[in-house]
Amino acid sequence: MQVTARAQPNIALVKYWGKKDVERNLPAVGSLSITLDALWTSMAVEFQPGLGADSLSLNDAPAPALLPRVGRCLDTVAGPDRPRARVISECNFPVAAGLASSASAFAALVVAADAACGRSRDRLALARVAGAASGSAARSLYGGYVELASGADDIDVEQLARPADWPLTVVVAVTASGAKPVSSTDAMQRSAAPSPFYARWIEEQAEDLALARTAVAARDFEALGAVAEHTCLKMHSVMWTSRPAVVYWNHVTLRCLQAIRELRAGGHPVFFTMDAGPQVKAVCLPEAAATVAATLGAVDGVAKIMTSGLGDGARVLESA
Ligand code: PMV
Repeated sequence: MQVTARAQPNIALVKYWGKKDVERNLPAVGSLSITLDALWTSMAVEFQPGLGADSLSLNDAPAPALLPRVGRCLDTVAGPDRPRARVISECNFPVAAGLASSASAFAALVVAADAACGRSRDRLALARVAGAASGSAARSLYGGYVELASGADDIDVEQLARPADWPLTVVVAVTASGAKPVSSTDAMQRSAAPSPFYARWIEEQAEDLALARTAVAARDFEALGAVAEHTCLKMHSVMWTSRPAVVYWNHVTLRCLQAIRELRAGGHPVFFTMDAGPQVKAVCLPEAAATVAATLGAVDGVAKIMTSGLGDGARVLESA
């Protein structure tokens, strides 16, 4: 049976950075995110007893580099003695460029693989399997506003609000095409010990999460923006001050941040966030989206603008 599932990337407003257990990929801190709707990854999975090896294609081209990670995730879902699988992936946005493509990919993969091997784990169990492959993927199992808590033994993930409860718009400014030079996994491992800011980053996370949770409950855009920009800049400060430093920003990134701050100073409800890559995500109230998109689109060097509302968690699209 071939099962196709789809998931969207999520953007963290309180960031996850650092691992407390590298082996199990357990995040050092909790995080809070919004799931998008316009960007997506689909995964079609079929276990085939006669097959000699797993295969993976991405947008119709073989993708052998990603296969070991995908294979390990399939082992967790279907057991190490599973039949080999044919996996066909489609993604409608740039991959490995700091746009959370691994979050949508592994969220879709676990949902498709779980159904294809005849299991029906609950959402939290699927989130934990996805999180073992890519920390942020656990959040893409859920739609809207999502909080991930990092417990002593495992993660817990819950939806705080549905997309329709507080519909925000995200405008993504692509400031550099192509894959990022350092993966988030590598970057996190290198930044954990050496940054002088790391201990403080961990210490302050509970407070940042509480501020963001309260802002979401109160639909307080200004408060959410303040804490989101603060945790984004703190996360990048940890990266910048690790050895060797990890600097994902480029000059266009900075121009976009400046443009967003100017828009806000001019009364437009918008704030920025960025992940492990040079792309800038502007989160705004829907009435500001057209102005934000036009302003960022006019920034010198911006290669592409994508606009998205908030969407649902990973789900099966079809079984055949
Ligand atoms: O899911 P990973 O292991 O690729 O980590 C991604 C971490 C950030 O995107 C930089 C922050 C976050 O919370 O999503």
